[in-house]
Amino acid sequence: MTVQWNDLIVRDARALTASEIRDLLKVADRPEIISFAGGVPDPSLFPLADFNAIYGDLTTDEAAGRKSLQYSISEGLPALRQWIADDLATSGAVRGIDNILITCGAQQGLDMLARLLLEPGREIVVEKPSYLGAMQAFSMRRPTYVGVNMDDDGPVIAELEAAFERGVRIAYLAPDFQNPTGRSYTLERRLAVLEVARKYGAVILEDAAYCKLSYEGDVLPSLLALDETNGDPQTGTIIQLGTFSKTLVPALRIGWVCAPRPVIERLVLMTQAGDLHVSTINQEVALRAARRLFPGHLDTIRDAYRAKRNTMLAALDEFMPEAVSYTRPEGGMFIWLTLPENIDSRQLLEQALHDAKVAFVPGQAFFCDHTGRNTARLSFATEKADRIRDGIERLALLIRRVHNQ
Ligand SMILES: Cc1ncc(COP(=O)(O)O)c(C=O)c1O
Repeated sequence: MTVQWNDLIVRDARALTASEIRDLLKVADRPEIISFAGGVPDPSLFPLADFNAIYGDLTTDEAAGRKSLQYSISEGLPALRQWIADDLATSGAVRGIDNILITCGAQQGLDMLARLLLEPGREIVVEKPSYLGAMQAFSMRRPTYVGVNMDDDGPVIAELEAAFERGVRIAYLAPDFQNPTGRSYTLERRLAVLEVARKYGAVILEDAAYCKLSYEGDVLPSLLALDETNGDPQTGTIIQLGTFSKTLVPALRIGWVCAPRPVIERLVLMTQAGDLHVSTINQEVALRAARRLFPGHLDTIRDAYRAKRNTMLAALDEFMPEAVSYTRPEGGMFIWLTLPENIDSRQLLEQALHDAKVAFVPGQAFFCDHTGRNTARLSFATEKADRIRDGIERLALLIRRVHNQ
């Protein structure tokens, strides 16, 4: 008798669906395609020589080498958590190492928080649009999404408050250089978000993945830093997710969750039952890399990404028709396009891949309610300046053609 997989695989896992866009974008890796689709850092910025030295030092130091190849505690290496706590403190968020759990990238943090806080039908607020990977992690628990619209200053507070007022208690928000729009919240909006969250006892999952990638000076204080329970390890409105993926390298898979103790205690138990801990050697390497490379390396990558952003914005200004609007992000990796209403960005992608040899991500996938048909995400992170300019020119030509049809 053949195995009936559909009867065996649980509903939560069946809730996961493959994205048709992913299939379309498989061709984006071809060299003839100029790709603004990937959400990944520029590999030419990875500090390879430093990693060579760090791995060399670590494996020739007998005691440190053996220790880094051993099992370790589920919370994560104390020295690494201390480094993260110290770094948070420099941006005004006072938390101890007992408020920090090391995770396998911020993505694992999202998955664990979904398992901790969501269940079928429970409502969660997400931005419209929001980070697709977070919604994928949440969807495994089959929650009900409550989409909140965004304006240039952040989420529309009346909508957030309306959700909290009728009982929603969790919101996933990204105040800095959001994926996919590149937008950041103003200070006033951050304070307003915190005020309504506190008023209703709601929790905010603050995704800080891009907070260090600022190209116009200092970033605004995080929600974690602005929370009035700052310094109290037990309470708080904010659970923050951080990562080294955008600032060092994603392959180490080192991220963290910073949360009040009751949350961390549960997450540690889940780690013990799940994957025991994040790779010891990767944590040790991340710590050594952070000590050795920051803040100098951050300046290097900020300069490189700022130049790419400028190139893309200048090309958009030069080539895009009036009917297309776009964000002017002060950091991160993404620019968000709003196309004329008559353009469906999924169809545009097919033409862009075929005719213009340009790739981007259609925006609809980032909306929990599947709106945003005429939007698109462009990443400026990986292509070189001449290809960025070329790709935008080709895309703009295609958009003009499609728009006038
Ligand atoms: C907003 C956001 N959050 C979290 C992640 C996950 O990052 P990682 O798991 O590599 O730390 C990403 C990755 O692209 C992201 O864009």
